[in-house]
Amino acid sequence: MKTIITFGTYDLLHVGHIRLLSRARALGDRLVVGVSSDQLNFSKKNKFPEFSEEERMEIISMIKGVDKVFLEESLELKASYLKEQEADILVMGDDWSGKFDHLKSICQVVYLPRTPSISTSAIIEKTRS
Ligand code: CTP
Repeated sequence: MKTIITFGTYDLLHVGHIRLLSRARALGDRLVVGVSSDQLNFSKKNKFPEFSEEERMEIISMIKGVDKVFLEESLELKASYLKEQEADILVMGDDWSGKFDHLKSICQVVYLPRTPSISTSAIIEKTRS
């Protein structure tokens, strides 16, 4: 049984998110998703997501292939999350390329290419203009 873990905000769910989750799931048998908390987003980007952490977790938990969802409350806790969830592979989008290589002593780290031309920020900008 190979456990895959991945992290993200997943605000205003779009096809880039779905493709990343589906490709991550295909690397193993079980997919665990850490959904970043409202507070963590605020501390990183100085703004809160459009959808609350409860809503984002509920949406992600209903996606085919997602076996477990938990709240990611701090970037510094990545190593503990990997151990707690008994992850075999950490999957991140290649916008994070190289940034999690220090976790390779805990599990395999794989960066998958992002789907081009779509992001939550772009959707927000487009709908506001
Ligand atoms: N992702 C992807 N392709 C995209 C957008 C996101 O593969 N076009 C992946 C990210 O690499 C990450 C996961 O989906 O592994 C969650 O990404 P998140 O940061 O929540 O979404 P973005 O749309 O990138 O949000 P933002 O614009 O706020 O950065």
